[in-house]
Amino acid sequence: MATVISFGIQKGGSSKTTTSGIVAHILSAEYGKKVLAVDLDSQGNLTELLTQEDIYVFHQRTVFEALQEQDARKYIHKVTDRLDLLSAEDHLARFPSWLYGSYRGNRSLVLKQTLESVQDDYDYIIIDTPPALGDQTINALAASDAVVAMFEASKFCYSALGRFLETCVHVQELANENLKIAGILRSLIDSRRTDNKALIELVEEEYEDLCFETIMTRTAAIGRLSINGFTNNPELKAGLKQYRLFVEELINRV
Ligand SMILES: Nc1ncnc2c1ncn2[C@@H]1O[C@H](COP(=O)(O)OP(=O)(O)O)[C@@H](O)[C@H]1O
Ligand SMILES: [Mg+2]
Repeated sequence: MATVISFGIQKGGSSKTTTSGIVAHILSAEYGKKVLAVDLDSQGNLTELLTQEDIYVFHQRTVFEALQEQDARKYIHKVTDRLDLLSAEDHLARFPSWLYGSYRGNRSLVLKQTLESVQDDYDYIIIDTPPALGDQTINALAASDAVVAMFEASKFCYSALGRFLETCVHVQELANENLKIAGILRSLIDSRRTDNKALIELVEEEYEDLCFETIMTRTAAIGRLSINGFTNNPELKAGLKQYRLFVEELINRV
């Protein structure tokens, strides 16, 4: 049965999508694991990052349709031999209105039920979430064995972090007692900026045991990944260095 890992924080631009895409890539391409990446953000950034396609290509063949049927099987796209994708595009924005209008059942557990049909086909399921504590994020947490809280060094993200972790605890209490908070990943760090350093240390002091040791710095190669993609990208190997250390830590924790 797959280990399900979500990446979240309600602050946009915190490297959720980049990190979940890279983790899915490393687990499948370097560890030889069978991986399903799930894009739960209607922006479809993970879909675009992994496929390098316009997200409208996936219209009516996305995670939203899978959620409505509570069955993922028909909607899985093959990215590589070992990496599959449940895609997203703009229409996923209608998930809450579908959830509160037409769905009868536990509204936190729709994704969990949807993934049950494919749980046994994968070693890992990696879920990218939108920058909000809404129904998609709650469903991701309820379906996960572990969650990584993303932290980019800004005051707004610092404010978001405590509330995100509280939300995880609520989900543990109400919907998924098995959810483990794998840790806080500090990302997009500019080591030359003293305010970045101060915020990293503040998070370290406050959440000592939760922080991953690996800290992700901002690099040009990873900044260009959304443009260049994962195939035939000569700067990828070097760009993934820090991410490999993180994946090792992550695997040990989950
Ligand atoms: N390690 C990194 N180095 C440089 N740029 C990065 C890195 N991680 C993410 N980015 C860039 O930062 C921006 C926000 O990242 P993204 O993954 O889209 O965040 P989120 O999904 O949290 O909104 C994107 O433009 C992305 O390309
Ligand atoms: Mg994103």
